[in-house]
Amino acid sequence: MPRFLLFCRPGFEKDCASEANDRFAQAGWSGRTHTFDPHGLVGFEGEFYDEAHRGPKPVPKLSELVFTRQILEGAALVKDLSAQDRAGPIAAAFLETVPGRSYRALVLEHPDTNEGRALAPFCKKFTPAMNNALRRAGFQFEPQNPAAPALHVILLSYEKIYVAHNRGAKGQWKGGIPRLKFPEDAPSRSTLKLEEAFLALMSENERTHLLKEGGMAVDLGASPGGWTYQLLQKGYYVTAVDHGKMDEPLLASGMVDHREEDAYKYKPRQAIDLLVCDMVDKPQKVASLMGKWFQQKQCRWAIFNLKLPMKKRFEEWEICRDIFWKESQLSPEQFDLRAKHLYHNRDEITLLVKPKRA
Ligand SMILES: C[S@@+](CC[C@H](N)C(=O)[O-])C[C@H]1O[C@@H](n2cnc3c(N)ncnc32)[C@H](O)[C@@H]1O
Repeated sequence: MPRFLLFCRPGFEKDCASEANDRFAQAGWSGRTHTFDPHGLVGFEGEFYDEAHRGPKPVPKLSELVFTRQILEGAALVKDLSAQDRAGPIAAAFLETVPGRSYRALVLEHPDTNEGRALAPFCKKFTPAMNNALRRAGFQFEPQNPAAPALHVILLSYEKIYVAHNRGAKGQWKGGIPRLKFPEDAPSRSTLKLEEAFLALMSENERTHLLKEGGMAVDLGASPGGWTYQLLQKGYYVTAVDHGKMDEPLLASGMVDHREEDAYKYKPRQAIDLLVCDMVDKPQKVASLMGKWFQQKQCRWAIFNLKLPMKKRFEEWEICRDIFWKESQLSPEQFDLRAKHLYHNRDEITLLVKPKRA
């Protein structure tokens, strides 16, 4: 019975679990989730072998899970660790859960909570002892071997940890959390959401081909200008639509046209490349507006936020997704729709819509 461990923002465990139940069931799993709030962790347990197809069942991809930041497999709880020898029992747990005896990385991490963050210095200090214990247990460190898993130790406390491993997704952010530096001259911290969206929702190839210098963008709900700032960094000309004030240095750049208008009434004079929207409004209303821009062929691609302040966030996101497809009249065969609850998001998720071949 393999146990998957899914990481989410603390407080979003129920949304992460609802989505995991749904996606694992679609992939043929019958299993159940456990939530470990307030740690921001969700476990999924289910039968791995597919009798009908005589093979392992497919595992939902991280990119298909909106409320999951990181997904690990082979999770097992190790309790009652003593200060005399923590590393030995942890290495023994890896012996039971990891296929093979090589590993390409050792990751020590903790929940994204205040209590979890207090364990960060210990994680760093404990790493050499853990590597030694793995070596003593017969594991070989092979950083260049792409087939070898990354071994994760997730500390819930000094006495209680999870072991788990990751066979794919080399280069993923630790804990699914990107460490982005806030640019001093950006007008709001929201700027980090769009920067993370470019990194989390697009491949390097897509960034090269889609984020084009000299492109035309519209930013709906732009004030004070954190998203507009990111677009200027990429060389876009931006029409910023908001009754609120825009940051003066952005306006002085000569790249920004500020329209003090209602975003629901604003229409571009010609089709633009990129539409972004970070308006605080009902998510179904925003999803419908975004759909209309595509239906009227007013933009080629878009990144937008849906604020989900209600309890059933997973269900609300699915309703918004259906509204978007219906209003836009786009087909999932021709367009990608990706969504993620980003690290820099709170009660909101970020969506990207783009033609499949762009
Ligand atoms: C979260 S803030 C946007 C922050 C911005 N993305 C940034 O990075 O600085 C939401 C903005 O949406 C604007 N807004 C809400 N409803 C709007 C509407 N109907 N038309 C235009 N702007 C609207 C608000 O005035 C507010 O400035």
